[in-house]
Amino acid sequence: MPADPTPPAVPAVPLCPSDALADGGDAHVFDLLEHGQPVRAFVLRHDGRVVGYLNRCAHVPAEMDWQPGKFLDDSGRWILCSIHGAAYDPASGHCVAGPCAGRRLRALRVDEHAGQVHWYPEDYLRPAFES
Ligand code: FES
Repeated sequence: MPADPTPPAVPAVPLCPSDALADGGDAHVFDLLEHGQPVRAFVLRHDGRVVGYLNRCAHVPAEMDWQPGKFLDDSGRWILCSIHGAAYDPASGHCVAGPCAGRRLRALRVDEHAGQVHWYPEDYLRPAFES
């Protein structure tokens, strides 16, 4: 019988306290592994809900923040890529304007409970440091 290529389930990874993410404010940036390669990701709060994405623009695979953790425009309405200005809807990750309009960010499975924001690893997205 062939080995199951699916890696074993990994428990939820606590990222930061819920109150560390102000609505429309800075993101919490963290490291993970995609197919074993280090990448950065972020979570932020938009319209009261926590969302998470890989920190990788859909135009060119580059990190998007203006400064560490700063992804949103002044209005807090859009995620803006600092390189060529692509604008993404924080709720969906869809690019609504810019050179990659119609494409989207890679979403992460995140939630918050008990005052903590969690990320749920999946198939090829794994914690940077597994115990
Ligand atoms: S790299 Fe993000 S818009 Fe070009």
